[in-house]
Amino acid sequence: TGNVTLDPGFTNTASCKSEITYIDGDAGILRYRGYPIEQLAEHSNFLEVAYLVIYGELPTGAQMEHFSERITRGTMLDERMRDLFRCFPRRSHPMPVLSAGVMALSTFATDSLDVFDQDQIELATHRLMAKMPTLAAYAYKNSVGQPFLYPRNDLGYVENFLRMSFGFPTEEYELDPATVKALDTLLILHADHEQNCSTSTVRLVGSSQADIYASIAAGINALSGPLHGGANQAVLEMLGRIDADGGDVNKFVTRVKNKEAGVRLMGFGHRVYKNYDPRAAIIKKHADEILRATGQQNALLDIAQELEQIALSDDYFKERKLYPNVDFYTGLIYEAMGFPSNYFTVLFALGRLPGWIAQWREMMSDPDTKIGRPRQVYVGAAERNYPGAEGAA
Ligand code: CMC
Repeated sequence: TGNVTLDPGFTNTASCKSEITYIDGDAGILRYRGYPIEQLAEHSNFLEVAYLVIYGELPTGAQMEHFSERITRGTMLDERMRDLFRCFPRRSHPMPVLSAGVMALSTFATDSLDVFDQDQIELATHRLMAKMPTLAAYAYKNSVGQPFLYPRNDLGYVENFLRMSFGFPTEEYELDPATVKALDTLLILHADHEQNCSTSTVRLVGSSQADIYASIAAGINALSGPLHGGANQAVLEMLGRIDADGGDVNKFVTRVKNKEAGVRLMGFGHRVYKNYDPRAAIIKKHADEILRATGQQNALLDIAQELEQIALSDDYFKERKLYPNVDFYTGLIYEAMGFPSNYFTVLFALGRLPGWIAQWREMMSDPDTKIGRPRQVYVGAAERNYPGAEGAA
């Protein structure tokens, strides 16, 4: 195997150079393009952060106007796409439907598939940003059997998405400004996270010069797993099981520490953060106030807070430097906003989209990019003869 190094899970292998996101996992620091996540969460908005992540600088007024105009006016899907959504079984999980939707979109977007043409890349960037909320909302509407709503150009990005998700064609949808603001902030917190599993997938697929839609659909699939984006759904299900089992948090923590098969403290631990995930810290601050604002007395929030407290003071978690990650509190907030748990990971995908686009574009414009092709250490059988073919070799 020559000079091949075995590194399962790539714990110590950098696959690229990147200018997009900086993480210091020991200190719990996260910055997009140099800007601290805390400042962006407080002062910016999701579309501006998307621009920053994709293009590298904060937009001027004119740049922002152009970007949001392109996105706002591109939200509609081809009419045939509605028929596509109707083909999926009623109770389909929205994640595979979203991923299929992005692939289907590429068949309608053949003028934006050239991976070296800057104008086409720009077109694909706007299209994906514009149409992903519509695809996401349709994936959801399909799962609950409600009519699809056309997007509305007079609404902001988050407002339009919320209306398409929860509105009905027959009546006005009343937007709650606190929900809009909270969801916008959550999307900012998910916008990029350097070479995580789904982003690495986007890059790996793209490194074969597959188009951006194919690469991002692959990223959505990678995100769906419970160890990655699917954790936000898994956390809520875990809290629900603890609640149904009498709310005995200590009993559950003991099962985790005993490493019972398949039992992990979901929403805890991170490959890079060996400290409190800065995104979780921001979300936690919001969780209480959002849950209270929606008037919900949430038993699961109490369990989550108790779980966190117990874990943070327990040697098992301390020794392994396991802290709450971004997914620990998001599910509770999404639920309070009215999203069903199988929609949570779609919200993660919506937030992560600018990161996937930025990373794909950075990779395609980097002259050092090569096709991603890891090596292996072969540990299988030595050469042997097929029965009856002795001596043939
Ligand atoms: N609960 C209990 N034990 C854990 C957990 C957990 N959530 N996470 C890690 N450990 C233990 C693990 O058993 C191992 O212990 P030991 O050395 O005794 O075998 C040690 O900590 C190191 O774990 P690892 O699995 O080698 O760590 P990793 O870097 O490969 O995994 C992770 C990172 C996020 C997959 C893992 O922490 C995990 O499964 N967490 C739960 C799922 C989750 O919340 N995922 C969301 C991640 S953040 C955002 C995102 O990507 O969506």
